[in-house]
Amino acid sequence: MENILIEKQDNIAVITINRPTKLNALNKATIQELHDGFKVLNEDKSVKAVIITGSGEKAFVAGADISEFANFSVEEGGKLAAQGQELLFDFVQNLSTPVIAAVNGFALGGGLELAMACHFRTASTNAKMGLPEVTLGVIPGYGGTQRLAQLVGKGRAMELIMTAGMIDAETAKNYGLVNHVVAQEELLDFTKGIASKIANNSSVAIAKAIEAINANFEDGTNGYEVEIKNFGLSFGTEDFKEGETAFLEITKAVFPGK
Ligand code: COA
Repeated sequence: MENILIEKQDNIAVITINRPTKLNALNKATIQELHDGFKVLNEDKSVKAVIITGSGEKAFVAGADISEFANFSVEEGGKLAAQGQELLFDFVQNLSTPVIAAVNGFALGGGLELAMACHFRTASTNAKMGLPEVTLGVIPGYGGTQRLAQLVGKGRAMELIMTAGMIDAETAKNYGLVNHVVAQEELLDFTKGIASKIANNSSVAIAKAIEAINANFEDGTNGYEVEIKNFGLSFGTEDFKEGETAFLEITKAVFPGK
């Protein structure tokens, strides 16, 4: 991997996008490496949560790599968005392992779209978020028009995208775009703290909950039906037996993750 770093500690993996001189902009190679990295971590049952962040102190990700699509045709533009969404953005959203974005600086364009594809977000006080694509004569193409409206509401998404404005971390928290804001030097440890709480719980149940929550946002899917199905399926898992037994015996559950 040339553009990302992966570090595993206990049950938590941290992916760091590592192109600091380009403010971690997402070029094609980085998107492919992220896909590969997430895939391997999702298949590794010892990994209970993944945190994604950017290297350096300035940026999470300053967007898709603008230099790569300067001369694109209509067909190439459509293909870029479709491939990116499939390889990375939808892929991350639908992973069964929880993914938290630790937004440590600028999260613009594809950077904010990546953070929004994660299951939830934390941010440092210096973080700045926005979808400035219309300043380049394009629109967000990695799910931004959909996920921003889902997370902050239609009116705010309209304004932010139309004005190409940037919001600071506190505003993002007020909008519900990020869950927590902490000092930059504390961001990773703080986010790891949340990840360790997740890691103590049943990974099988968490995977089923992610699927049910996501179902609400899928066309033609009834989220309540997915919830009913996944609730029922939970009773057939070893994790349920462990959780139930531990509760009755007043001990701490140690989930086998099956
Ligand atoms: N794609 C490619 N390269 C990018 C990039 C992007 N989205 N964002 C930043 N970079 C590169 C710059 O070209 C520069 O490279 P160079 O040193 O080789 O010239 C380097 O990262 C540092 O960026 P710079 O603009 O000098 O930093 P800054 O502190 O002056 O400004 C930003 C920071 C984030 C405000 C500014 O980089 C910016 O507006 N980036 C583009 C954001 C954007 O429109 N994203 C949406 C893309 S669809």
